[in-house]
This record gives sequence, C-alpha cells and structure tokens, in this order.
Amino acid sequence: MEKFVIKGGKPLTGEVTISGAKNAAVAILPATILAAGKCVIENLPDISDVAASLKILKALGAQIRMIDRNTYEIDTSMLVSTEVPAELSRKMRASYYFLGALLSRSGKAQVAMPGGCNLGPRPIDQHLKAFSALGATDSVDYGMISVRAHKLTGAHIFFDKVSVGATMNGMLSAVMAEGQTVLENCAKEPHVVDLANFLNMCGADIRGAGTDVIKVRGAQQMHGCTYSIIPDQIEAGSYMVAAAATGGDVLIKNVTPKHLEPITVKLQRAGAKVEEFDDAVRVSRVGELQPLKINTMPHPGFPTDMQPLMSVMLTVAKGTSTITEGIWDNRFRYADELAKMGANIQVDGQVAVIEGVAKLQPAPLHASDLRAGAALVVAALMTNGTSEITEIQHIERGYENIVAKLQALGADITRVETEPAIALTPAL
Ligand code: EPU
Repeated sequence: MEKFVIKGGKPLTGEVTISGAKNAAVAILPATILAAGKCVIENLPDISDVAASLKILKALGAQIRMIDRNTYEIDTSMLVSTEVPAELSRKMRASYYFLGALLSRSGKAQVAMPGGCNLGPRPIDQHLKAFSALGATDSVDYGMISVRAHKLTGAHIFFDKVSVGATMNGMLSAVMAEGQTVLENCAKEPHVVDLANFLNMCGADIRGAGTDVIKVRGAQQMHGCTYSIIPDQIEAGSYMVAAAATGGDVLIKNVTPKHLEPITVKLQRAGAKVEEFDDAVRVSRVGELQPLKINTMPHPGFPTDMQPLMSVMLTVAKGTSTITEGIWDNRFRYADELAKMGANIQVDGQVAVIEGVAKLQPAPLHASDLRAGAALVVAALMTNGTSEITEIQHIERGYENIVAKLQALGADITRVETEPAIALTPAL
C-alpha cells in the first residue's frame, strides 16, 4: 500500500505543465481499433487508466510500441479477440468505449461491467440505446455486457440524458455504419470534440462535435494517423484551485484557456487573480477567499469533476457557500474527511452548505475516488501540519506525476510505501 505524506502551509509558486486529457485518452485509445492500422498517439498522460487501456488493446491483439513516456505507436491491423478481459475492464469506467469501437470494427464486443469511481449509480442505458438504434442487440450475463450486430445502419438517436460516454460511444459505433447517423442532445465536453477530431483524422466524417447535434456519415474505410491529445481541463483546474487555495502564484502551462473558463470565472469571483495567455494561465491570490454558489452541469457549465476541489477551497472562504451537484448522486463522500480537518460542511442530498472556517487542521485522510483524492491533497496543503492520505491509487488513475509536479511548486509531499499487512501464517 502507498500513501502521500503532506506537510502543508506553503503557498504553491512556480510553473507546472499540464498533461494530456485522461477522459480524451481513454476514448481515443479504444478508437484506434477503428483505424485498423498504425496510429501514433502523442501527449498521452502517464496514468494508470491509460496503462490499463493499453493493456486491453494488447490483449485484443494490437501491437504497441512505446516511443517515449507520453507517445505510443498502436497498430490495430490484426486483432485476435473482441472480448475485453474482465480484470482489466473492471479497473476503469471508460472500458465501455471498447464496446462501441469493437462493435463498429468487428460486429461484436464483450466487456465486463465497467469499474471506476464510485459516484453513485452509473447506468449505460443511453450507450445501449445508441447501439440498438444502429441495429445491435445487447445482453448482460454474469456482469458481462455483450453487443452484437450483423450490420450497423445509420439512425436518428435522441439521448434522454446528456452523457459524455453515450455521446462518444454513439460516435464510435456510427463511424462505419451505413448511411447517416444523427445524434441529438449530445455532451459538448472538450474530450467529445477531441475524439471526433481524432476519428476524422482517421477518415471518419463527423460534424457538429461540441454542439448538441452531431452528424456522422458512415465511412467505408478508416486508416491510422498521428494525433496529439488535448491538455487535461480538470488537471489544469486542479492546479488552478491549488494555487488559489494556498494563496500562491502558479503559471499553468500547456492548457486551452477557453476550456477553463467556467473554472476561471468562479476563481475570480472567489478573489483569485487569473491571467490568460495563449496556452497558459497564471493563478494567484493575495486577499481573502469569498464564498461562492456553484451548480455542476454538463459543459459549458461548471464541471462536476472540479466540484470536490472547489469545495475544499471554499472551506476557508469568508462566509457561506452552497454547492449543488447536478450530475452524480454520490459525489460528497469527501465531506466526512473535510469534517475531520475542522471544516464546517453539511451535506443534504445533492447540496452541500459550507460555512468558512479560519483554517483547516491536518488529519489522516482517505481518498474515496479520483477527484475527492485530489481535493484532499489540496486540503492537506492548506493546513499548517502533516496529513497522510491513503488509497492514493484513485488519485494516480488520473494525475500524472502529481508528487513531482507539486514538489516543483514548493509543496512538501512524499509518496511513501507502507508496510505490507503482516501475514497471518508465517512462511516456513
Ligand atoms: N447517465 C445515464 N445513462 C447513461 C449514461 C449516463 O443515466 O447511459 C447519467 C449518469 O448517471 C450521470 C449523467 O448521465 O448522472 C452523466 O454521466 P456521463 O455519461 O456524462 O458520465 P461518464 O461518461 O460516465 C464522464 C467522465 C467523468 C465525468 C462525467 C461527467 C470519463 C471516463 N469519465 O463520465 O469523469 O464526471 O463524464 O462530466 O470520461 C473523472 O474524471 O473523475 C470522472 C468521473
């Protein structure tokens, strides 16, 4: 087991470079299956969700060559299987993209019910609705989802709920369907656009990604390409909040400032200074933090993945903040951890009310999921003492090199291997 040991109290200062977007990478890697050739994917974040996606591709028969830590050549010309090994698909939520990609390429796919963060119920009915409209059938047996189609034919699909995953799986499954597919009520997140751009570079004909309506004209054949993944909006936002919460001054490089606007606006209202450059933002704060009202919504609304980080910052704002979670049923599991640190946070259903306190206190902390874990790292940096965070594998699913990046900003954080539990039966 590993843990982070964090001695807080120092404002973060300096520069940090943001990695490629996790939620784009975990869709683009399965999408290389559609290229049926060689793709070179650049700016892949070095995180465990990407490692798991690469392992799945390898298990399906893809040839994978590491060019450098963030660049891989993936050759999907020859695939040997359409079944994603259960132990790998259960490691991350995004394994559901293999359903859409394999269905499109091979007419069938089998994936175990995806894992990932526990944020409440995570249905995939809208993904299956898209597959079925295109002519596929699906079944679930012993936790394995199977989809199958003799032929995929373009269709008009109206999503009942705005879903990032269903929008991306809709595109993946429609790319080679015969005729035109129209997807309505689509998610507009930057990673949706990134997947469409990648697929178009491979020969797809997808228009409208980033709007409510996406039109896909089925392509006869796809091919490989070289593609660089967009910067991670949430990783960038996390360092923005860390800078503001610790009263620091950080230049955050390799970002798309437009993608950060919902976060920038809130940070400015809270009293931080945010300067935008072509591909960087600088965040600093000197004065007191002001309380905020935040409602999480699909893009371009305030992103749910930033909600735990913002809440942590607002625990020391001067007044009462309210946070309404509009996407997930169970995304305040970190509130008990913050209460241990002396925060005044009351959760009632989908709403958290935070009464600012003067200072957070160090505590032993437990990361319940990826963003909650990142938020607790920031909380620990805001205290004047030493906190330990366990279950850090959640954090390492989505943040490349978080320890080195924070150390470079002056944080006192170390990753410590803890003693393995003592075996009950001693080895003879
Ligand atoms: N939903 C349905 N039916 C579906 C799909 C979704 O009812 O078939 C509901 C969900 O229950 C939820 C809402 O629709 O209430 C939105 O879910 P969405 O499908 O958009 O989420 P997702 O694709 O499973 C991605 C990110 C999440 C992020 C959400 C929302 C990936 C791999 N994950 O999840 O990221 O919170 O979009 O933006 O792209 C994270 O990075 O920490 C993370 C959890």
